[in-house]
Amino acid sequence: MSLTPIIAPSILAADFADFGNECRVLQDQGAHWIHVDVMDGHFVPNITFGPQMCAALRPHIKGVMDVHLMITPVDPMIEAFAKSGADILTVHVEAGPHLHRTLQAVKAAGCKAGLAINPATGIEFVPQVLDLIDLICVMTVNPGFGGQKFIHSQLDKIRALRGLIGDRPIDLEIDGGVTVETAPLCVAAGANVLVAGSSVFKGGSVANPAPYGVNMRDLQAACA
Ligand code: DX5
Ligand code: ZN
Repeated sequence: MSLTPIIAPSILAADFADFGNECRVLQDQGAHWIHVDVMDGHFVPNITFGPQMCAALRPHIKGVMDVHLMITPVDPMIEAFAKSGADILTVHVEAGPHLHRTLQAVKAAGCKAGLAINPATGIEFVPQVLDLIDLICVMTVNPGFGGQKFIHSQLDKIRALRGLIGDRPIDLEIDGGVTVETAPLCVAAGANVLVAGSSVFKGGSVANPAPYGVNMRDLQAACA
C-alpha cells in the first residue's frame, strides 16, 4: 500500500478521438494506473468501450490497466477482457446472480479481481468473497457518467470496508466525484486508490498536459 493515494485517471473524461496520446501524457504527468470505464447501455445508461478498445489501449499503458466493467451479463465477457490485457477486472456485485463464480472466473482468466459496490448496495456479502478479491471499488456516484456529485453517505461504507480488509493486500478504490474536497475524506476513511475523471482532466489536453500533472499532485497533496 502506498502512503499517498494512487491516482487512477478515468479516460471517460479524455478526448475520445485520441486515447493513445491521452494515456501517454497522463503517464508522463505521473499516472501509474489508467482506469477504463466499460459501459454497455444496459447495466448503466451509457455506452463506451469493448474489449477491442482495451486491447488497442494496452500498448499505450505501461502501468496498471484498471478495467471497470459496468456490463451485464458480465460472465460471457470476462475472457475477452482478460485477453485484452487488463491487469484488474472489476465487476459489479449487482451485475450477476453468482458473484463468487464471477470472481473465480476473473482469477482463472489471470487478472486481479475487483469488486464494485453501488451506492445503494450494502456490504454484508463482502466477508464471503474477501479471499477472492484484490480490490474493492466503492462507487461514490451512481455509475454511468463522469462529472457527478460525490455521495457523502458512502464514507461510512468506506470506513467499514477498511475495517473488514484489515491488513490484507486488497486495494480500496473510490470512484466518482473525487475532488480536492472529497479525496481527503476518502483517504481518511481508509481508501488508497482514487479514480478521478473530471478533476484530473480539467484545464488540460494532449496539447497542454501540464494541468493533468498539477491536478493529480493537488489531489495527493490534499490527502497528505
Ligand atoms: C462512473 C465511472 C467513473 C467516472 C468518474 O460510472 O465509473 O470512473 O469516470 O468520473 P468523475 O471523476 O468525473 O466523477
Ligand atoms: Zn469507473
